[in-house]
Amino acid sequence: MTEPAVERLTPDELRTLFLFESLNDDQLALLAENGRVERRPGGSIVYHEGEEATCFFVLLSGEVELSRRVHGVDVQINRTSQRGVYGGATQAYMESPTPHTYMYTMRAITDVEFFTLTAETFGTIVREWFPMAMHLLEGVFYGMRTSQTRVSERERLVALGSLSAGLTHELNNPAAAAVRATSVLRDRVAGMRRKLAMIADGRLDGTRLRHLVELQEEAVKRAASAPELTALETSDAEAAVEDWLDDHDIVGGWDMAPALVAGGIDVEWLDRVAGAVGEENLDAAVRWLTYTIDTELLMREIDDSVTRISSLVAAAKQYSQLDRAPYQTVDVHDLLVATLTMLQGKIPKGITKVKEFDRSLPRIPAYAAELNQVWTNLIDNAIAAMGETGTLTIRTGREDDRCLFVEIGDTGPGIPEEIRPRIFEPFFTTKPVGEGTGLGLDISYRIVVNRHHGSIKVDSRPGDTRFRVILPIDGPPRPDNGDPAEG
Ligand SMILES: Nc1ncnc2c1ncn2[C@@H]1O[C@H](COP(=O)(O)OP(=O)(O)OP(=O)(O)O)[C@@H](O)[C@H]1O
Ligand SMILES: [Mg+2]
Repeated sequence: MTEPAVERLTPDELRTLFLFESLNDDQLALLAENGRVERRPGGSIVYHEGEEATCFFVLLSGEVELSRRVHGVDVQINRTSQRGVYGGATQAYMESPTPHTYMYTMRAITDVEFFTLTAETFGTIVREWFPMAMHLLEGVFYGMRTSQTRVSERERLVALGSLSAGLTHELNNPAAAAVRATSVLRDRVAGMRRKLAMIADGRLDGTRLRHLVELQEEAVKRAASAPELTALETSDAEAAVEDWLDDHDIVGGWDMAPALVAGGIDVEWLDRVAGAVGEENLDAAVRWLTYTIDTELLMREIDDSVTRISSLVAAAKQYSQLDRAPYQTVDVHDLLVATLTMLQGKIPKGITKVKEFDRSLPRIPAYAAELNQVWTNLIDNAIAAMGETGTLTIRTGREDDRCLFVEIGDTGPGIPEEIRPRIFEPFFTTKPVGEGTGLGLDISYRIVVNRHHGSIKVDSRPGDTRFRVILPIDGPPRPDNGDPAEG
């Protein structure tokens, strides 16, 4: 049996391919000797993405398609019949400890004809003939890769930095309120101790004292359930209480009336106090009750402030996931709420926040902190698009039986048709220099698609832009260390 004759190209034929047009005669002769012509029928696969890259292809005739598999779907990258285009083992010139693999799948659309070189020959030729260019290319390749990771790390730090600045601001208000309320409270408690001495000096008999204590309990309850009054209702009620106090010769009614009203006390109730303790003890009793209400309201204020502080701290923990396993089973709503809390200070007052959560969604295994980064980037873009006013909608739901979705919607001007294909590119931004890095969507895409095997869909028209993140309910494949932690 004889091998089919190997078909070669002549140096002159090779010179007509743009890749080789500037080579000298010796170089062309060497290529002609080492390369061969190969043919494939229409519809066949020329090479598969991920397989070891053993061959370098230059298209001579016919049409080919390049595609890449993204989350189980073949995405067409390029389709061409341009003579001279090349593909396959294009990186064979780079030194690498592991074999290079094909980055795409090439399919022949029609019958095709290639000039081919083995990866080994191609690599050696490039290294020997273009040593300087080779170094430059290698530099560009590795440089891009490291600068890209550096930039994303930096972006994450910047994001965390601006969030912690926002958080500090958010924490400041309740903390200051709690400090102020505590110092007023100390004052009131001291006042109560003094009043207690007066009440206890024997002027009030046992029955009346018991009545006073009962009224005090009632005052505490009233303070806890005092209705919210409008400004007008408040000033009317205060005027009435003040008049009552004046009529009963209690000095400083203007000072006590606001606290009594805030504590839900009205004139009828004061009449009951007068009936219970007697006119001669009324002054001391009313002051005592005012202190009671006042301390109750202050304690409520402290309670509210401290609760707000601890919920902010909890949100910061949930957001950063610093004390948690990176891969764990989470409720996406917990992540969304934490992210919103963290971003609160950055969202202008004129933007209405709407949450449409489908609470029946199952918990999913995920890289929680990274997903928070995604929500942050998308919300950030939505806010930037809307400016001072608009509606930010966060919606969750079932995509299909395999996936859930989280949608961030805004009422901004939308994404112009002509830039739509570019928004996920790294460094693509329409923001002024220094404001946007253009990495927000690139990072989000990588987290959702590469890390979670999900997808991001964009639907945009003026006044209604939606970024929909679709995540598989079964989660991404487990990292090597096993099961996701419960979190
Ligand atoms: N909700 C949106 N409405 C309108 N345009 C948007 C929206 N989201 C993104 N874009 C467009 O996509 C571009 C890229 O967004 P991306 O988040 O990647 O970068 P950036 O926001 O410009 O900068 P960075 O996020 O790094 O600060 C934006 O500059 C903007 O033009
Ligand atoms: Mg952005």
